[in-house]
This record gives sequence, structure tokens and C-alpha cells, in this order.
Amino acid sequence: VRLPLVTKDRISRQIEIEFEGRPLVALPGESVAATLAANGILDLGTSRTGTSKGIFCGMGVCHDCLVEIDGQPNQRSCMIKVDQPIKVCRQQFPGGQLPDNNINQTNHGGIPQIETPELLVVGGGIGGMSAAAVAAESGAGVILLDERTQLGGQFCKQPTPVHALPKEAVSDVQVTTGRKLIERITNAGVELITDTQVWAGFPQRDVLAVSNGHTRFFRPDRLIVATGAYERGLPLPGWTLPGVMTTGAAQTLLRTYRVIPGERILIAGNGPFNIQVALELAKAGATIVAVVESSLRPGLRSLAALYDMYRGSRQLLFDGVRYTRDLKRRRIPLLYGHNLVSVEQIDGGLQAQLASSTNGIRQSSSSFD
Ligand code: FES
Repeated sequence: VRLPLVTKDRISRQIEIEFEGRPLVALPGESVAATLAANGILDLGTSRTGTSKGIFCGMGVCHDCLVEIDGQPNQRSCMIKVDQPIKVCRQQFPGGQLPDNNINQTNHGGIPQIETPELLVVGGGIGGMSAAAVAAESGAGVILLDERTQLGGQFCKQPTPVHALPKEAVSDVQVTTGRKLIERITNAGVELITDTQVWAGFPQRDVLAVSNGHTRFFRPDRLIVATGAYERGLPLPGWTLPGVMTTGAAQTLLRTYRVIPGERILIAGNGPFNIQVALELAKAGATIVAVVESSLRPGLRSLAALYDMYRGSRQLLFDGVRYTRDLKRRRIPLLYGHNLVSVEQIDGGLQAQLASSTNGIRQSSSSFD
């Protein structure tokens, strides 16, 4: 489901793409996966076992979202930006080979010139940008590389330009933090190279990256690799089915592209981030059928842990209290001490099986459609 644009006049052009012969409208700058999800398409191909699969991590790591684009197989739909009309097809396992002419093209250009910044930062999330800002403000010559078009990484995800609000209208702390850091590194003179993927590193800090189909070769005096945060998706039956994705992927679709990945959503896992995303999705119009939390309901036995949390990050503790209160207000069930055990495809959607456990012993099970 695509949410309305924040300001209608922002849309100067739409791009027509084709998915298996079906015409779809994309907004400039959104990912192929976002365009497909906005049009209700989550099934992107088949896996080794012949089952359907779709977007999972939403950040270029899992490769479950591979599709064919203009005849080229193995394209990560969550990372490829739509900026011109393209033809997209589902990809069946094991995927095809790159056409010969493509291989010749990517080998073209000979040995690239060696670029020698004082500091090379790989990763444009909050960690990478902070390091780049401090180094550049101290006088170092810094280049920062990131695979995405937009800097910000997972924590400070930025909306695509077509969805960006004016600076004064942004109230979200994570978006604002990212914006400020981007401004800071730009003002400090950091050279920003986006849409660039690092694919090799060698001794002496030699780094090879591919940018717009061309190889770039860096040999910096110092190298910082800011890999950023990854969610840990636990394998269980059905975890690769279309419509099953990490909360980070769901949040990227919403925050970056204003797309809700479904109308009825179950969120399962561990930690406050799940509750935060549940509230964001609910606010955007999705029905959250429940939030399933693997840890037990906080009680007297949690006092020591809560005190440690208070000492470590008071703000985080207050955020947690606010999130659970908001869930209650919206009547979204929060199931403590439950785990997701499997997901199945049923007519018109998914069915999730849950199990509640105490001290590791399964007590009961329930299911959600
Ligand atoms: S690589 Fe695209 S969803 Fe994981």
C-alpha cells in the first residue's frame, strides 16, 4: 500500500516500469522492491526448494529479493533505484548468467586510478558519518562511501527526496539526527560517494569498490569500516515466504518510501525496536494484529535489569514505557513470553504459529492470520 505523498507538488514525474508484462507506476528514487510492494507484489521468485520468496532484510544483505531487470539476473530489488523505465521479472532458482556483453562492459576501463585519501570511511550510517565528521573537522581529507543513494543507514533512515519534509517540519529524532550529520559532513568537506559498493579489501588497506558500473581503487592512510547494525533473523519454517520480513525492512519501506508492506501485520521477536515499528505502522494505517515478545513480562525479578537500563540509558527506558503505553492505547496486544515458531502460506495471506513458554518449556500455542 502506498501512502499519499507528503506534498503533492513534489512529484514532477512518475516512471512506468513493467513487472512480468504488467505496467506499474514508480516514483523517482524508490527501490524496485518498494515499487513492487506498493503495488501489492511481494512474491519475487522461487528459492532452491521451489517455494516463493520475497524481500526479507531490505538492506542488501540476504539476497532473497533477487529479480531479473532488463534481462540481467541476480539484481537486488531492495537496493536498485528506479530512475528510468525498466522491465522486471521474478527470478527462479538458481538464476541466470550475466549476458556476455555485460561482462565485457564491466571489465572495460582498464586499471582504475588509485585514490589516496587520508581517511576512507566505508558506511554512511550514524557511526560512519560521525567518524567522518570528527576527522574532517580536525583537518583530515575524508572520503565516505555508501551503498545506498541516501545516507543515514538503518538508524537514521532518510526519506527519498520525493517524500522529504521541509527541515522545520521533521519531528522524528532519528531522521533529524541523520539530517544534521549529513549537513555536518557536507560542511566539513567530506567527499560523499553514494550508490557505491565495496567488494574487496586487501592488505595495506587497498579497497575496491564498484560505482555506476566502474571500479574505483582506494588506498587510504587510514580506513574505518562502519558496518552498521544488522538484525538477526532466526530461521524457522516459512521465514523466507513473501510477506515475511525483518522489522527493519518494514520500517525502511515505510520511512524511506512511504509504503506499508501489508494491511494486517504481526510483529514477532525481541526488543523495543519491534514495538516502535509496530506503532509507526499502526499510525500509518496498518492493522497490527499483535506484537509478540519473546522475553517475559517485566516484574519484580526484572528490577535489577531495569535499574541497569536506567543507569545505561534513561531515555531508552522512558521510550520503552511510552511505547508500551501507546500500544495499549491503540489496543494492540503485546504477548510477552511468546515465540514465533512457523509461518505458512494460506489463501490470501500468511498464518503464523506461536508458542508461549516459561523457563524454556512450551506451554501453549496459538495462531494468527
Ligand atoms: S538483499 Fe534485498 S531483501 Fe535482503
